[in-house]
Amino acid sequence: MKKTVAFVRCFLHLTPFGACAKNRPRRFFAVAGAMLAVAGLAQAAGRSGEEIYTKTCKVCHEAGIAGSPKFGDKAAWEPRIAKGMDALMASAVPGTAKGMPPKGTCMDCDDAELKAAIEFMVSKAKQG
Ligand code: HEC
Repeated sequence: MKKTVAFVRCFLHLTPFGACAKNRPRRFFAVAGAMLAVAGLAQAAGRSGEEIYTKTCKVCHEAGIAGSPKFGDKAAWEPRIAKGMDALMASAVPGTAKGMPPKGTCMDCDDAELKAAIEFMVSKAKQG
């Protein structure tokens, strides 16, 4: 308990530097490690389809750039939706010769996140 208090005081720079210095590097890595672990968990929990869309897919799909099915365009999406989600994933993951880049350029997306992004576009197209 006493150690924790000392550490917090060190961390907040309440204790003169010299008094903390010897423990600093190790403490620093412990804190950095904990923060990375939390960030890792947040990542593993997955981002929403809308988040992925806005971050990566929107660049092309918002305006239908390069012949991509435009966001919310029912006519453009209908024949694609008809192929089913598996077929859409099968073209979105490796990309297509007609210009859809592999994973829609979201290289750190896992399949679940990509699928969520497609579902987001599909649901808007159905409303369209
Ligand atoms: C650089 C532009 C670009 C980006 C970025 C992009 N796409 Fe595409 N996308 C295209 C183009 C062009 C097509 C049409 C390709 C075709 O008909 O084969 C397409 C088609 C698709 C299709 C339909 C595939 C099919 O089988 O009909 C899906 C699903 C798709 N994109 C999902 C995504 C997702 C999800 C993202 C973001 C993670 C994304 N795209 C980002 C250009 C892009």
